[in-house]
Amino acid sequence: MLNRVVHRLKQFIFALKSRMTEDDRNFTRKYLKISEAALFDQLPEDIQKHSVMVARRALEIFMGHRYKIDERTLVRASLLHDVGKGLSRMGILDRTFLVMLRGAFPVLYDRLAAGGGRAGVHRDHAELAVELLRKAGVEEEVIEAVKGHNRPAAEGDSNELMILRKIDEGEI
Ligand SMILES: [Fe+2]
Ligand SMILES: [Fe+2]
Repeated sequence: MLNRVVHRLKQFIFALKSRMTEDDRNFTRKYLKISEAALFDQLPEDIQKHSVMVARRALEIFMGHRYKIDERTLVRASLLHDVGKGLSRMGILDRTFLVMLRGAFPVLYDRLAAGGGRAGVHRDHAELAVELLRKAGVEEEVIEAVKGHNRPAAEGDSNELMILRKIDEGEI
């Protein structure tokens, strides 16, 4: 649990400092259609960078894996997994506060998120992404993986979802 919190915080601070490169941008264009790239591009740059890093790691894992994984589903879900966060205009300070609150006082975080608003979007971004992705014409396999990335593992999770979740949580 503590490891996860520390990972989240490191991931977050690292992402804040890193910029999208031209290479990153081309990578997103290789996997996303115009309507999807539009969703991606409206995310704050640090979330874009985080998503690209998750997707690149996913590709590495795909290469060395024996199980049945669909490359495009995995990479596309990785790139799109946090698009729900684009539903609220949260500044860096807001998000730093929420990440720290979630780590240190999860009950308080939940109470705040239950009230909706920015904290609600922050907590429920995985489920909230579903409608955005449907409108953009994204296929169900990708939508399912995005929708499940922030909840605990469950029976019936696809291989793509399990890999995405583990990378996002810093486990692989
Ligand atoms: Fe997420
Ligand atoms: Fe994420």
